[in-house]
Amino acid sequence: MALTNSNINLIRAIAEGNVHDAKTFALLSLKEDKTKKNEWATKNLIKKLSCSGLGITEAIPADIKTALIALSGKEFVPEQYYLRDAEKQLYDDILTMSLTAKNLSEMGINYSNTCLLYGPTGTGKTEFAKYLAQKIGKPLFYVNFSQAIDSYLGNTAKNINKIMMFAAQWPCILLLDEIDCIALKRKESGESANGELMRTTISVMQAMDSMPPNVIMLACTNKMEMLDDALLRRFSIKHEVKNMSTPELDAMIQQYIKATNTEQYVTEEDIAELTTSYHNPGQIIPELNRKIGKKYYKANADMLKADAQKAATAEFTDIWDVTETYTIRVQAESENEAITAAKKAKSDVYYASNRGKSEWIAKRIEESVN
Ligand SMILES: Nc1ncnc2c1ncn2[C@@H]1O[C@H](COP(=O)(O)OP(=O)(O)OP(=O)(O)O)[C@@H](O)[C@H]1O
Ligand SMILES: [Mg+2]
Repeated sequence: MALTNSNINLIRAIAEGNVHDAKTFALLSLKEDKTKKNEWATKNLIKKLSCSGLGITEAIPADIKTALIALSGKEFVPEQYYLRDAEKQLYDDILTMSLTAKNLSEMGINYSNTCLLYGPTGTGKTEFAKYLAQKIGKPLFYVNFSQAIDSYLGNTAKNINKIMMFAAQWPCILLLDEIDCIALKRKESGESANGELMRTTISVMQAMDSMPPNVIMLACTNKMEMLDDALLRRFSIKHEVKNMSTPELDAMIQQYIKATNTEQYVTEEDIAELTTSYHNPGQIIPELNRKIGKKYYKANADMLKADAQKAATAEFTDIWDVTETYTIRVQAESENEAITAAKKAKSDVYYASNRGKSEWIAKRIEESVN
C-alpha cells in the first residue's frame, strides 16, 4: 500500500523531531483511514490525540514554564501597530533568510535563521516580534533572560538549553529578550565573569548552531555594543530599531487613534505636543492613553457616575453568576450544590469572602447556611 501525503509528512516530522507537526499529521492520517477494520482504533486514537491537545502552552514542561512564555497573539492588535518602511524591509529580509535557511538545510548546509534587533528602549523591538509572529502565523515563544537568571539561580544554563531544545520541536519564532543579561563581552563582565552566565551564553550559542530552519530566532538588546563578539557573529541579520522621526510619530498616533476609535479625544495640539516631546512609541503610547483617559472621563463623567451609582445599589439576583471562584473551590455544578458544600465546609465561605466581589456572595451563602 502506498503511503499518503499525510503519512509521509508524519514520517518527516518524526525524523526531524517536530512533535507539533507529527501530531498534526498523525491526526490527518487517522482521519483519512476509512477502513472498517481500523474503525475502533482510529476513533480512539483521534480522541486521544485531540485531548492531549496540540496547544502549545500545555506542552511546555513545568520546569521551564517560569521563563518560557508562549504568546498567543491575542495581546497583539495589528490595527494598532504602525509598520515603518525600515521594519517592513526587515520583515521581507527575515522571510528571505528563512527560505534561504530551509533550502540550504536541504542541501546539508547549516545557515543560521537568526536576527538581532537592537536600539533604544521603547522603539518597538519586542512589538516587532509579535507583529512578525502574527503576520506569518507561527507561535511566539518568549524568553526573558533577566527573569530566567533570577528564577533558575545557578541552573540557568541547563534550563535555557532545555527551553531551546523544546522550541526546536515547533515551527515557531523564538524571542530571546534582553540577551545582554547573559552575553556580555568578557571585559564588560569584569574579572568576576560569572561562570553561570558564561555557560548560559555557550549553551545559547550551541543551540543557535543546531536550530532547525523552521525556527526563526530573534534576540533583542539595547546594549548592542556590550555584546560578546562570538554571539554577535551568529546573527545573520542585525537590525537597528531607531527612534521615530516626527512624521513617523505623527502617522503612528493617527493610526492608533483611528484603530481605537478615540479620534474625538485627541486634538492636533495634543499630537504636536507628543511628537515634539517624545521620540518613540514606548514613550508616546502610555502618554497618549493617559490623555485619552482624561478626556474620556471628562466627556462621559455624568454617564459614568450614573453607572457607578447603579452598580453600587444594584440588587444581584443570580449569585451563581459570580461564584466562579467558589465553584472551582468546591467543585460544585450548581448553586444549590455550592451552598450544600458550603454548609459542610463553612470555612470556605470566608475564603470566598476574601475575593472582592465575592464578599457579597459569601454573605448570601452564609444567609442560606444559617
Ligand atoms: N510600531 C509600533 N506601533 C504602535 N505601537 C508601538 C509600536 N512599537 C511599539 N509600540 C508600543 O510601544 C510599547 C513599547 O514597545 P516595545 O516593548 O516593543 O519596546 P522595546 O524596543 O522592546 O523596548 P525595551 O528595549 O525596553 O524592551 C509597546 O508596548 C507598544 O504599545
Ligand atoms: Mg522589549
